[in-house]
Amino acid sequence: MHKAEEILNDLEIEFSTELDKAITNLKDTLSLDQSKLEFNNVKVKYFSKNSALFAILKDLKNIPDINERKKIGEKANKLRVKLTEKLSSSEKAFTLKILESQLKTEKIDPTRPGIKVSTNPHQHLISSTIGRIEDIFTSMGFKVRNSFEVDNEYNNFDALNIAANHPARDNWDTLWLSDGNLMVTHTSSMQNRILAQDNSLIKEIIIGKCFRNEATDARHEHTFHQLEGVYLAKKATMGDMLGVLLEFFEKYFERKLKYKFTPDFFPFVEPGAMLSIECVICDGKGCKVCKFSGYLEVLGCGMIHPKVIANAGKNPKEYSGFAWGIGIERLALLNNDINDIRYFYSNNLRFINQFN
Ligand code: DAH
Repeated sequence: MHKAEEILNDLEIEFSTELDKAITNLKDTLSLDQSKLEFNNVKVKYFSKNSALFAILKDLKNIPDINERKKIGEKANKLRVKLTEKLSSSEKAFTLKILESQLKTEKIDPTRPGIKVSTNPHQHLISSTIGRIEDIFTSMGFKVRNSFEVDNEYNNFDALNIAANHPARDNWDTLWLSDGNLMVTHTSSMQNRILAQDNSLIKEIIIGKCFRNEATDARHEHTFHQLEGVYLAKKATMGDMLGVLLEFFEKYFERKLKYKFTPDFFPFVEPGAMLSIECVICDGKGCKVCKFSGYLEVLGCGMIHPKVIANAGKNPKEYSGFAWGIGIERLALLNNDINDIRYFYSNNLRFINQFN
């Protein structure tokens, strides 16, 4: 007898024995999970690509004698049909047994009271921070809107005086989408739409998510929130800008603050500046957070660039304005003495529940 024939003869008996054993074990000794595993092992052993049966079928072409090849081929195929039938009827029996055993051991008590998901429902710190910021700016007459999360290259860059090859584009590591649009890298992306409104006085803040293609660390997240402020009038001055910004910070931190106003560059403002406030952690004495300078850089700002005003269809000789951008996570960190931005989105309830 050819060796393959011998194997086939044994296979049927072995298969039935192992399958029956798996079903009996379910009742007698093994736990549900173990029984399922055992049953599955049998299935894999006899039906996978590594099974003895599959190896015989694959090897048929190498049997030199044509009659022998036919005989073994027929026998192997018949066995395969038989085993498949047996497996499917056993599978039904097995499932039924599992159900029976579950019905016996697992009881549902519909009268049991439900479990409270949280005894302490409250907003996420970022949501409550946004709420506070909105309250302060609306009290100063600003309108609030949300930014888009996906926008085009024009709104995110070109309209803001950042042309395609402008080196400043490297400051915003961009997540590009396959259709040519992008995940907005800053809420300044809304400026063009806002400035284009048919209004001679525009006072708006825009709040929304920003996305950057960069590695995360204690101070950087790939997804975070920004606030963009836009003020456009027939005549606006840097003094007006400082008035608005300082009033905001003093209301937010609930005290008078010293500040520093230093020149900076952003393509969409001219002149551009960085506003630093007295360190709210050490009251300006110098600490790790303010790198012992006594001041914290809190926002970029400036007088809106004439090109940006013109891009929105308005005459820069007739209109002037200012704009600023603040990171919302940074404000929340400073006001709550948190040292790692990654906590916000870590889904750690022990962190989240501290702020209610
Ligand atoms: N869009 C800037 C950023 O993401 C922040 C910014 C700076 C906004 C200066 C402004 C501004 O409106 O005037 O880094």
